[in-house]
Amino acid sequence: MNMKLVCALLATCIAVALILGWIFRTGREKPPFCESQHQDLCLKDGGQDGHSLVFADLSPEEMVQVKRYLWNNLGVPLEEPPLAKPSDNCLYSIVLHLPPKAEVLEFLDHQGRKPTRQALAVVFFGNQEDPNITEYVVGPLPEPTYHQDITVQKYGGKLPYYRRFFFSVDLDKVNVFFVDYNGTNLLGLPALPPGFKSGDRKVWMRLFQNVAGFYLHPVGLEVQVDVSSLNVSEWEVVNVFYNGQYFRDMEELEREFNKGRVRVSKVKKTPHNGGYSSLKPRVPHKLLGPLQYEPRGPRYCIRDNQVTFMSWSFAFGMEANRGPRIFDVRFQGERIVYELSVQDASAIYGSNSPATMVTRLMDLGLGFGKSAVTLTRGVDCPYVATYLDGHYLLDSAQPITHKNSLCIFEQNAEIPARRHYEDHVISEFYGALADSVLVFRSISVMGNYDYVWDFVFHQNGAVGVRVYATGYIQTSFFFGNAADFGNRVEDLTLGAIHTHSIHYKVDLDIG
Ligand SMILES: *[C@@H]1O[C@H](CO)[C@@H](O)[C@H](O)[C@H]1NC(C)=O
Ligand SMILES: *[C@@H]1O[C@H](CO)[C@@H](O)[C@H](O)[C@H]1NC(C)=O
Ligand SMILES: *[C@@H]1O[C@H](CO)[C@@H](O)[C@H](O)[C@H]1NC(C)=O
Repeated sequence: MNMKLVCALLATCIAVALILGWIFRTGREKPPFCESQHQDLCLKDGGQDGHSLVFADLSPEEMVQVKRYLWNNLGVPLEEPPLAKPSDNCLYSIVLHLPPKAEVLEFLDHQGRKPTRQALAVVFFGNQEDPNITEYVVGPLPEPTYHQDITVQKYGGKLPYYRRFFFSVDLDKVNVFFVDYNGTNLLGLPALPPGFKSGDRKVWMRLFQNVAGFYLHPVGLEVQVDVSSLNVSEWEVVNVFYNGQYFRDMEELEREFNKGRVRVSKVKKTPHNGGYSSLKPRVPHKLLGPLQYEPRGPRYCIRDNQVTFMSWSFAFGMEANRGPRIFDVRFQGERIVYELSVQDASAIYGSNSPATMVTRLMDLGLGFGKSAVTLTRGVDCPYVATYLDGHYLLDSAQPITHKNSLCIFEQNAEIPARRHYEDHVISEFYGALADSVLVFRSISVMGNYDYVWDFVFHQNGAVGVRVYATGYIQTSFFFGNAADFGNRVEDLTLGAIHTHSIHYKVDLDIG
């Protein structure tokens, strides 16, 4: 069964739990990690040694092989993403191309042939008569010999070039423009999408003071730049907005300002640490809080991309675009979920200023995997967690490694999974089960927001997902009727009203 869950994130947290039956089994009390005994446990519980590798993310070596193959075999000059102009050809990303489910099931369940390992590469062809975006399946790994264009089959037609996501360097080029206005103290942030209809590439840039936590320091100036031309020299300002007034361009703003016809709301110059937006503790740390500990070491085992924990086993991955996901989730050896994965997170904003009122983010574009950052021990995950690296080739020339950006840990939930206290004349008893859960966590930083992604496995057969949103709010300049669009969080700062939606895919395989 395929089912798409769309969960609205209302406060800071949602939990989707699939209760899959109350089946209890005594936990194995095996000592730590990967002693020989424990290796046996890994094998036995996982069932099939090495089978989880069909879901494994590409290694840096595999990415390099695919890149080398395409550079040698596409027959056109390519430019590296950090240097690419819109009018160049460029290899944008390389990720795992998941084999079809039917093939994987044949392999996992019926001694079928191991599916061919393949990569999916996205190429921007800017340097041709009719520019386009093309997706290639490249295989077999580790030493590719073929590439197949799957674009038309996958999307039902050509992928127009204007649909490509911005390179990080593209928007830097927009920022160059502000330097003319001595913008070293300012920082521009694009509002996405860059228009109202397919093909628009007119991006509103809003300006902030360039300080720590700048999201809370808008200065009231917003500039719309048409970036549709493949010739960067032709990019131009098409609209300017300041403190409630629109202007054709910067020259008009300057003219009107000199004539004293611009309403000015002066922001206070903020120190580099951001002042009120600083995350520095305001008071010294006092006593340490409680810590989790594992009296007899970890009770889970990680081998390659497979985790076994008590009655559970699953394979995990971190896709550069879509982010964290798990596959072949088994309870007591039986598969109950084929895939459970993050798909997208959107945020829809409202405000009285143009950049914020057009903002309808689909964060997928920024890459949940690529944006998963190094985790801090004891803060982002428990001290005792196991930390793993992620590797990505997306908008970069070489694979980039994010050290310790995934964590796995067992945690006492400190609430009984079940309990009963009986105080009856004919029978008196107490029975309960401590709820100890395994968590697979990563944190994606999508600009101002930090999404904490959890996949949680309970001992009673329930598996759930949870997401916490933290970081900074997105703000706009406070003027006019701004209070109708959110809350005034500082003198000249509006915490703009918005709605988050988090989208998961869950492919349940029960019965
Ligand atoms: C897109 O461009 C590539 C490279 O030139 C070409 O091979 C492909 O056929 C084009 N796709 C479409 C749908 O025209
Ligand atoms: C910006 O202005 C400051 C103060 O007027 C000046 O010292 C600095 O050199 C200017 N920077 C640029 C890049 O023009
Ligand atoms: C890019 O645009 C500028 C300004 O219009 C023009 O001078 C230049 O020749 C263009 N470059 C290319 C490669 O077309």
